Amino acid sequence: MNTDAHTLLLNMSGFSLINITFLILIAACLVWLSTNSAICNAATTEKYWKHGTRHHRVHVEKSKLKEGLKFNVLDYGAKGDGESDDTKAFQAAWANACKVEASLMIVPSGYKFLVGPTSFSGSNCGKNMVLQLDGTILAPTSSKAWGGGVDQWLEFKDLVGFMVKGKGILDGRGSVWWTKSTNDFKQVSSSMDTKKQSTCRPMAAVMFVGGSKLTVTGITIQNSPQFHLTFDSCDGVLVHDISISSPGDSPNTDGIHLRSSKNVIIHHTNLACGDDCISIQTGCTDVLIHDVNCGPGHGISIGSLGIDGITACVSNITVRDVKLHDTMTGVRIKTWQGAKGVVRGVSFSNIQVSKVEVPIMIDQYYCDHSTCKNSSAAISIANVEYENIRGTYTVQPLHLSCSDSKPCMNLNLSTIELKPQPNGHQMSEPFCWQAFGRLNAPVIPEVDCLQEDQSSSNWGPHDAHKCAA
Ligand SMILES: *[C@@H]1O[C@H](CO)[C@@H](O)[C@H](O)[C@H]1NC(C)=O
Ligand SMILES: *[C@@H]1O[C@H](CO)[C@@H](O)[C@H](O)[C@H]1NC(C)=O
Ligand SMILES: *[C@@H]1O[C@H](CO)[C@@H](O)[C@H](O)[C@H]1NC(C)=O
Repeated sequence: MNTDAHTLLLNMSGFSLINITFLILIAACLVWLSTNSAICNAATTEKYWKHGTRHHRVHVEKSKLKEGLKFNVLDYGAKGDGESDDTKAFQAAWANACKVEASLMIVPSGYKFLVGPTSFSGSNCGKNMVLQLDGTILAPTSSKAWGGGVDQWLEFKDLVGFMVKGKGILDGRGSVWWTKSTNDFKQVSSSMDTKKQSTCRPMAAVMFVGGSKLTVTGITIQNSPQFHLTFDSCDGVLVHDISISSPGDSPNTDGIHLRSSKNVIIHHTNLACGDDCISIQTGCTDVLIHDVNCGPGHGISIGSLGIDGITACVSNITVRDVKLHDTMTGVRIKTWQGAKGVVRGVSFSNIQVSKVEVPIMIDQYYCDHSTCKNSSAAISIANVEYENIRGTYTVQPLHLSCSDSKPCMNLNLSTIELKPQPNGHQMSEPFCWQAFGRLNAPVIPEVDCLQEDQSSSNWGPHDAHKCAA
């Protein structure tokens, strides 16, 4: 919003302002009529003159010019009754919206649209499209509607400057998948985390691939079959004021999953799910997470990294002002044995935990099945800051289990105050293995297992995109 112009307009005298504005509008409409074959939106203009306060007028005029044309899914035959298949209507609305820069695709409130797996591809679309989502979109529940081996429900691909906003709900209706035993599913091949490939349960509810300057705000994403919101190979991601929700016992329902993405900011968001609230995977760098609530769930995790011996790198991750309640871990880094790569420059600060099983964890022996092969190869972890982490735990305050061949270096713990939440179970003491760093008081409970970091090596910043073993 151009505040100067706005103030200027408000300060000008009313009558001449109206004349000027009217002329501008007429001119804008004429330009529109001559450049697009589209019809000038008379209804909006009329409403604007009849009901608009001066403030409203300025807003409408600007937004019309800025946002371009509107494409309401109802105008493309969507029923919105929760039962008719509206997939084709959404595809048609998208195909038209895509031709125009800064177009607005509208999913109106008061309707429930049933939409099957769809890829909203943007490689030929105008920039800065907006999906105004105020209604509810429902995923199909029959496996037939999903077809075989579909990885995600709603995919947004190769978009530039795209925004999803509104008060709407994306409901993955995943409970039908959660309850089935994994044996009911075939294997699928997928570019996603292999650990999640054991079923052909769809991977993600909403997935952004290969986009830049993306924004997701206002909406709720709930009950995904697995991950709720995934960004893969994106540059420039802003997620704020959204909610993600599924039951604490729903399997693999990560909240936000980041992979090969950089310049990511997530803030003022509530995450409740059955796996990691946020998981940061290989290839991520320059990620900032703040003012986020997590719980139930498995906490905020970097990893798991390096499954099947692959090279994985993550750098410059900041997590601050986060509240976690009733989660499995608080802030965690998990890597598989046998892999190569680095984790560099991680800061966890102002973390409030409440009834969290293990608030602080590094696990370089991550294994999600009963036995994993021992290997001396490991991802190296260094420069991890833990500052001002307070609250209650139910199992163990701190667990730093690092690799014999690649110990964790330069771990910095300051102002840690963790108290046991009485639950009748035996609590474990803080545990460290091959963990080097320093403590800055106060650290409660006492941590005497951290080894003094004597090396003078430079564990300096590292660009995850130039990931080398
Ligand atoms: C680290 O990431 C933040 C965004 O979270 C960015 O502002 C900052 O410039 C990055 N630092 C480096 C050294 O790249
Ligand atoms: C791996 O190493 C650990 C610790 O030395 C040992 O307890 C475990 O039995 C080994 N596992 C395998 C599969 O060799
Ligand atoms: C460790 O923490 C202390 C206190 O917050 C700070 O002064 C110091 O710079 C930190 N060191 C590193 C390497 O992050």
